[in-house]
Amino acid sequence: MLIRKKNEIASSEITAQSDYRNRRAFMQGAAAAGIATLAGTRLLDVAAPRTDVHAATKLATVPSKLSTPGITPTSFQDITTYNNFYEFGTDKSDPAKNAWRLQTRPWTVSVEGEVKKKKTFDIDTLLKLRPMEERIYRHRCVEAWSMVIPWDGYPLAEFIKECEPLSSAQYVQFLSYENLNQEPWIKDISLDWPYSEGLRMDEAMHPLTLLTFGLYGQALPNQDGAPVRVVVPWKYGFKSAKSIVKVRFVKKQPRTTWNESAPNEYGFYSNVNPNVDHPRWSQKYERVIGAPFWKARQATLMFNGYGDQVASLYAGMDLRKNF
Ligand code: MTE
Repeated sequence: MLIRKKNEIASSEITAQSDYRNRRAFMQGAAAAGIATLAGTRLLDVAAPRTDVHAATKLATVPSKLSTPGITPTSFQDITTYNNFYEFGTDKSDPAKNAWRLQTRPWTVSVEGEVKKKKTFDIDTLLKLRPMEERIYRHRCVEAWSMVIPWDGYPLAEFIKECEPLSSAQYVQFLSYENLNQEPWIKDISLDWPYSEGLRMDEAMHPLTLLTFGLYGQALPNQDGAPVRVVVPWKYGFKSAKSIVKVRFVKKQPRTTWNESAPNEYGFYSNVNPNVDHPRWSQKYERVIGAPFWKARQATLMFNGYGDQVASLYAGMDLRKNF
């Protein structure tokens, strides 16, 4: 993603991804040597990943007919150590090291906007609202890497029914948790926090869209968006907001973090589309995380392979304009 660090000259906008990463590595080295001006928390980056600290709460799940057949899940290790969760740092390995700071209890999700009545759901109520299904889905990031993840959750539509939206609700916005004490990294990144994402109502109500509480049959590790996130398998991963605390039903297309930060790079729809390149790289292929080298590059599928189920949502729309 296009990361603008606070107080950083805007050259990141014109730097190739690999150069930019090297520069970040240099900056981290400088921070470790105590000569950088970034927040002191950056020194925590040198700590080893702490995937061990997340209590592996088991979830009772039933296999789902909507699971994607014929695909092998990525290892738990890769799914939980190669993440994007910028509240906990910008490197893929940062969330696994830092997200232990996130306190996921007590936790509530408040519902507001175009609804019959404002409501607040406790996470433990949400967990029991519907039977938990296991859905194996392709997971494609806009940065052209992919995984296969066995998520545990239930259709977002089931939750939306409980929210009793009014007919005036055209879109739904998801807002993530924002807490400077637990997520001090947000100070370094120039994004309009809290992380915000949104879907059109018909996308949100689609049976494939999952309100997600776990993966591999256990509660979500913090770095994967504990205690609750959204998963929309035909869209680039950034549409799937993590650690949600607020759901707003709105009349107009809501602000969404990446679209607001770089509208020419990240569209509101962000359906996986190998025919529409990102301005700085192709979307035709993806790097498969954890795959042996002979399977490490594969062609990206339209709508991430879910076209039969979702293409009708976009009938008549120009997907180049509405990227
Ligand atoms: N949600 C929040 N709150 N903060 C984030 O930085 N990153 C997004 C999305 N949800 C992000 C987020 C991006 S860019 C991607 S690709 C996916 O989460 C990554 O999900 P994963 O780490 O489980 O693979």
